[in-house]
Amino acid sequence: MAFHLSSQLFSCCLLFSFCLILVRAHGSRRLYIVYLGEKKHDDPTLVTASHHDMLGSIIGSKEEVLASITYSYKHGFSGFAAMLTEDQAEHLAELPEVISITPNQKHELMTTRSWDFLGLNYEPPSELLQRSKYGEDIIIGIIDSGIWPESKSFSDHGYDEVPSRWKGICQLGQAWGPSNCSRKIIGARYYAAGLDKANFKKNYMSARDHNGHGTHTASTAAGAVVEGVNLHGLGAGVARGGAPRARLAVYKVGWEEGDAGGIYLPTAAVLAALDDAIHDGVDILSLSLVVDEDSFGALHAVQNGITVVYAGGNSGPRPQVLFNTAPWVITVAASKIDRSFPTVITLGNKQTLVGQSFYYKLENETESRFESLVNGGNCSREALNGTSINGKVVLCTELTFGPIGKYFKDVFAGVFQGGASGLIFALYTTDVLLSTEDCQGKACVLVDIEIGFQVATYIGSESLSTVKIEPASSITGNQVPAPKVAIFSSRGPSIKYPTVLKPDIAAPGVNILAAKKDAYVFNSGTSMATPHVAGVVALLKALHPHWSHAALKSAIVTTASTKDKHGMPMLAEALPRKVADPFDYGGGNINPIGAADPGLIYDIDPKDYNKFFACQIKKYEICNITTLPAYHLNLPSISIPDLRHTIKIRRSVTNVGEVDAVYKSFIESPLGVKMTIEPSVLVFNARKKVNAFKVSITPLWEVQGDYTFGSLTWYNEHHTARIPIAVRITIRDFYADVA
Ligand SMILES: *[C@@H]1O[C@H](CO)[C@@H](O)[C@H](O)[C@H]1NC(C)=O
Ligand SMILES: *[C@@H]1O[C@H](CO)[C@@H](O)[C@H](O)[C@H]1NC(C)=O
Ligand SMILES: *[C@@H]1O[C@H](CO)[C@@H](O)[C@H](O)[C@H]1NC(C)=O
Ligand SMILES: *[C@@H]1O[C@H](CO)[C@@H](O)[C@H](O)[C@H]1NC(C)=O
Ligand SMILES: *[C@@H]1O[C@H](CO)[C@@H](O)[C@H](O)[C@H]1NC(C)=O
Repeated sequence: MAFHLSSQLFSCCLLFSFCLILVRAHGSRRLYIVYLGEKKHDDPTLVTASHHDMLGSIIGSKEEVLASITYSYKHGFSGFAAMLTEDQAEHLAELPEVISITPNQKHELMTTRSWDFLGLNYEPPSELLQRSKYGEDIIIGIIDSGIWPESKSFSDHGYDEVPSRWKGICQLGQAWGPSNCSRKIIGARYYAAGLDKANFKKNYMSARDHNGHGTHTASTAAGAVVEGVNLHGLGAGVARGGAPRARLAVYKVGWEEGDAGGIYLPTAAVLAALDDAIHDGVDILSLSLVVDEDSFGALHAVQNGITVVYAGGNSGPRPQVLFNTAPWVITVAASKIDRSFPTVITLGNKQTLVGQSFYYKLENETESRFESLVNGGNCSREALNGTSINGKVVLCTELTFGPIGKYFKDVFAGVFQGGASGLIFALYTTDVLLSTEDCQGKACVLVDIEIGFQVATYIGSESLSTVKIEPASSITGNQVPAPKVAIFSSRGPSIKYPTVLKPDIAAPGVNILAAKKDAYVFNSGTSMATPHVAGVVALLKALHPHWSHAALKSAIVTTASTKDKHGMPMLAEALPRKVADPFDYGGGNINPIGAADPGLIYDIDPKDYNKFFACQIKKYEICNITTLPAYHLNLPSISIPDLRHTIKIRRSVTNVGEVDAVYKSFIESPLGVKMTIEPSVLVFNARKKVNAFKVSITPLWEVQGDYTFGSLTWYNEHHTARIPIAVRITIRDFYADVA
């Protein structure tokens, strides 16, 4: 009955404007996303018409429907986004066709050396790059803040025609003409529906990127080769994407809001981009953004043959803050590469110490001199009160345990407002080097706590202490311990899908040099790691066009490396630093050469995801509550959040290596758990390409435990396929202590 009442109220208000006040009191309108599942018609116009009818049955006139509907999803799945009152949303939710209705959310957006580090050398070109034709036939969709088409990284010089299967468009707009699409940027769309233009003046109302984030990620995944790129001499080299000849399709969903520079990133727009990308025919989608509610959009993309790669977020090193953890996507963590920017500090007593900085000098500037050095303690305003720092270098020591970026900004402001000529900052990690970009030409050197202590000791021992800071240099190679999981990289487990081990993989994401407008800049984040994975997937797809999304992901996870270049276990930056585990990096750090030839793969029929997750996606549909836990899905990992008694898990592997092959198993049981495998040897031949096996996992203790980690590896003389395992023993229902 409530339905009729509010609908009458609404139409009365259309006639009498004074009623509007009544409606507002009744509930203001906001954007909702209505999900209707698989589309019922092949003709998109019929799908949209059915959305209009459905909405009309709730909100009345055709004009109202057109004013309310923001996006109609009609290619990959059926649904729409519309401005609705809470009452209207409730009435829609009652319709039998409606699977779910959720309020729109806004979200966050979250290179030269990195590709050589991963073994994809360009000169001479690695075999994988050559055999995959540099990814030329592959189309990578970038859902981000747009692109800067004039960047040299997007030149289409020497490209063949756009693949004929491409069905996308080049949407014209502000500062975006027909020539902005090319054989490199083959498609461009933007999603500005419902934006209050006055609040988004900074942006180009087109796919052109004002912010720079999307240009950076696109050039990392598929930038063409650009020689001689560097930033004031740092990080010099050839800039290029992982698949330098892959094509790019740009979907702009992120908009700079107001003057503060925040990004407005509505779920409704991301879903519209996913829907269009399915229609357009992209092969891979790279999403360097955090958005959780669209998991059904990504699922439809995967079920349409697209590989979807997502950033895991930058909320590390705390656990349980991982984003985008749906089992059908690849969730990416960030690691550091073997490049650093050592900066030599010489104390007045001739002692030399090394920190990290982006400090540089212009050619006309004089050489570094000794300057006065003072200890500013924690460099808060209180701590600096009474200390003369004008013209001096200040030593600051991190004593807090808070968000480092904000703390850094506060310190920076205090020190430089006081007229300091430089800053030596002692921290628990130097991963935050990018924050020193704000130093604008002044020396800002990050050192670890131990070196900071030595500097403080020196200051305490002299009445007049001095220091000289040299400009930074860049070094690469074996002297730099790498890879390591970056401090900011979000850690597992997944809260939403605890029976799925996440993240899946780590890739370079610290101090990555890539395009922004016509220049090249450093950026850090899982946003930068994500297009590295998308680039690798492009090469693998070119090499193995018939592999499923699950096969590609399996190849990447099972061949990842868990050791650094010296054969030591890979570390994860944290407080304190520790040996990395699967909640830091999934299978490990990405290894493209290994992934091209994994030997065995764990494959999944994309329809199987529905079996396991129907209840989570289709909230309002009667779902089969006997659905098996997701650790029975044939994923290249196992995660059991509540082990109480023996669990038997079936997995199957498909041979994609030599036809006749014998694999043996190697087990590392997680602590407190006994793992056995049956059979322990697998034989493959021309008739037997797929083998199944059973893993039994038994708790050895009766405890309310924490997660422990292990692995299962199949190996022969040519291949090793390793999957990570996480298990938590529980007695009672699990509780959320995973410290
Ligand atoms: C992109 O389009 C704009 C507007 O038409 C034009 O001024 C610009 O030169 C174009 N850039 C390229 C690379 O074609
Ligand atoms: C050095 O050159 C830059 C521009 O190239 C100029 O802005 C700066 O003032 C010069 N500095 C000195 C000390 O001459
Ligand atoms: C600095 O110290 C002086 C005297 O010790 C005090 O009066 C003043 O309030 C302090 N200022 C700040 C910002 O703490
Ligand atoms: C910084 O040091 C000052 C005095 O040295 C102290 O009052 C203040 O609480 C410290 N701040 C933090 C955040 O530790
Ligand atoms: C629910 O799942 C069980 C086990 O997989 C299956 O036997 C049963 O047929 C399913 N029921 C429905 C209604 O799909």
